[in-house]
Amino acid sequence: MKKFIEVISEEMKAAFAAAGYEASYGKVTVSNRPDLCEYQCNGAMAGAKAYKKAPIMIAEDVAARLQDSAVFSSVEAVAPGFLNLKLKESFVLSYVEDMMKETKFGVNEPEKPQTIVVDYGGPNVAKPLHVGHLRPAIIGESIKRIARFAGHKVIGDVHLGDWGLPMGQIITELAVRKPELPYFDEAFEGEYPVEPPFTISELEEIYPFASGKCKTDEEYKSKALLATAQLQSGRRGYRALWKHILDVSVNDLKKNYEKLDVHFDLWMGESDVDDLIPPMVEKMKADGHAYISSGALVVDVKEDTDKKELPPCIILKSDGAANYETTDLATIIQRERDFAPNAIIYVVDKRQELHFQQVFRCARKTGLVRDDVALEFIGFGTMNGKDGKPFKTRDGGVLRLEYLLSQISEEMYGKISENKELPEAEAKKTAGMIALAAVKYGDLSNQAAKDYIFDTERFTSFEGDTGPYILYTMVRIKSILAKYAQGGGNLDALKRLAPETKAEKELLMNLAGFNAMIEEAFTERAPHKVCAYIYNLANVFNSFYHSTKILSEENEEKKQSYIALLKDTLAVLDSCIDLLGFEAPERM
Ligand code: ARG
Repeated sequence: MKKFIEVISEEMKAAFAAAGYEASYGKVTVSNRPDLCEYQCNGAMAGAKAYKKAPIMIAEDVAARLQDSAVFSSVEAVAPGFLNLKLKESFVLSYVEDMMKETKFGVNEPEKPQTIVVDYGGPNVAKPLHVGHLRPAIIGESIKRIARFAGHKVIGDVHLGDWGLPMGQIITELAVRKPELPYFDEAFEGEYPVEPPFTISELEEIYPFASGKCKTDEEYKSKALLATAQLQSGRRGYRALWKHILDVSVNDLKKNYEKLDVHFDLWMGESDVDDLIPPMVEKMKADGHAYISSGALVVDVKEDTDKKELPPCIILKSDGAANYETTDLATIIQRERDFAPNAIIYVVDKRQELHFQQVFRCARKTGLVRDDVALEFIGFGTMNGKDGKPFKTRDGGVLRLEYLLSQISEEMYGKISENKELPEAEAKKTAGMIALAAVKYGDLSNQAAKDYIFDTERFTSFEGDTGPYILYTMVRIKSILAKYAQGGGNLDALKRLAPETKAEKELLMNLAGFNAMIEEAFTERAPHKVCAYIYNLANVFNSFYHSTKILSEENEEKKQSYIALLKDTLAVLDSCIDLLGFEAPERM
C-alpha cells in the first residue's frame, strides 16, 4: 500500500502538472505550523526561479486546480508562496480503513526480500549476564524483529565468546582444584563423565577468580595461555571439559535471555569457526595479503584517505594463536557460506568500533565477502547510572541482569498492588511485564549510539515517555473495548464514520503514518523511531479519550466508530510493542 504522505504528494504533484509546472515541485510535508494547517507544500517557492514568476502566483495557480480535490478539504496559497493544506475527513478515514484491512497495516512486502544476519547478545561463556549485556540483547532483538516485520529473512546469532583465554583460565583453575579429574590425565583413553564437574554457580565463581589470578601470577598466566592453546589445538581432555563449560553456561544463558523475551535463531560461537581458520590463513598468505610483522601475521587495512592511521589487522598472534579478529573474520566466511546474506549487522558496544573497522576492511580486501554484502556496525553507547558513570551496584560491583529485572519487577508490583482487584498471581505476572517494558523502552527510546542514564524512577513512571505509560494507555483501551463487548457490542462488526473532531482526525492521521515509520525504522536500523511513534500515538489517543464521550455516546453509529478507532489504535500499538520486544497485560 502506498504511504499516506505519498498519496497526498501525488495529488499535489498532479495539480502542479495540470497547472503547467514540473510535477516534482508538488512534494508535500507535514506542517511545521500545525496551528495553521496539517500539511504543507513549498514547491511554489522552489519553482519561482525556474518559471521566473512570483511564488504566490504559482501557488494560486496550483490551489485553483485543487478546489474539488478528494484529498484536500482546503488548499490555501499564502504569502510569500506557501501552500497550506488540510485533508478531507473522508480521505483520511478511507486510508485508515484500507490499511486496517491489510495484514501488516499497509507495510508492503519488499520486492526482493533480503537475508540479514543480526549478530547481537555476544555474551561470554562462564560469565553471568550483567547490565552490560542488556543493550545488545534489547537493541539487537528489536532490530531483528523490525527487519522481519518489514518482510526480510532475518537470522539472529548470539555469537558466544567461547574460545579465548577465559576457557584456558577456567581449565587451569580446575586443574588446581580438582587434579584427580580424568580431563587432566593425558594418558586417559576412556569415556569422560557425562555429568559436568561443576555447577553454574561454581563456574561463575571460578572464572573471575582465575582471571584475577592471571593478573598477579605470571606462572599461572602462562599456564592459562598454554591451556588455551592446547584446547584450541584439540587436546582431548580439554575439549571435553570445555564442552561441559559450554553446556552449563549456555543452559543458564538461555534461561536468562528467555526472561528478557530475547530469542536467538543460532547459538553459534567463536569456537564454531575454528576449522575455517587454517584455510583462511593459508589463502590470505597465498594471495599476498597477509605478512609477518614483529612475529605476528597481519593484513594492512589502512587507506590513503584515513584521517587517523588504522593499525593492521592481526590474523595470528606471534604465538600462532587466533584472536578476536581471527574468529570474526572466519565467522564472516561461515555466514557467507551458510546464508549468503545481503547484510550482516553487528550490534556491539561502540568501543569496539576500531575492531570492526579492521575486520570489515580486511574481509573486503581479502575477498571473504561479495562486494555487495553490507557489513554494518551498530555501536551502542554505555548505560550509565544517575551519577553519569557506568551502571554499578551500590557497592560498586557489576549488577547481574537477573537482579536488575527482579528489582524492577518488585517495584512495579508495589505500584500495581494498590489495585486491589488484581489477584496476587496476576499482579506478579503483570508486574514482570511492565518491568520488561520499562527497561526495554527506557533503552530503545534513546538512539543506540548515545550513552544514556538508567533512571529507574523515570523508566517505571506511568507518565511521560516510558514503557509503562504506553502499556497503561493500551490497558485503558482494552478495558473500554471489554466494557463495550460486555454491554452487547460486537467488536467484529464496527462501522466507521468520517472524523468530526480535531482529536479524532489527528488520531487517524497518526495511524496512517505507520507504514512510513516502519520503513524508516528498518532502513535506519532505528527502534527509537518506533518508540517516538507510539509515544506520540499514545498522547494523541489520550487527548482524544479526554475530549470525547465514548461509551456514554448516545448516537450508536458514532459510538461504533469511536470503538473502531480504539480497536485500530490498540492493534497498531500492539504490533509496535512487539517490535520493541514486550507485551501488554490485560489489566494493571
Ligand atoms: N563477546 C564479545 C564481547 O564480550 C562480543 C561479541 C560481539 N560480536 C562479534 N561478532 N564480535 O566483547
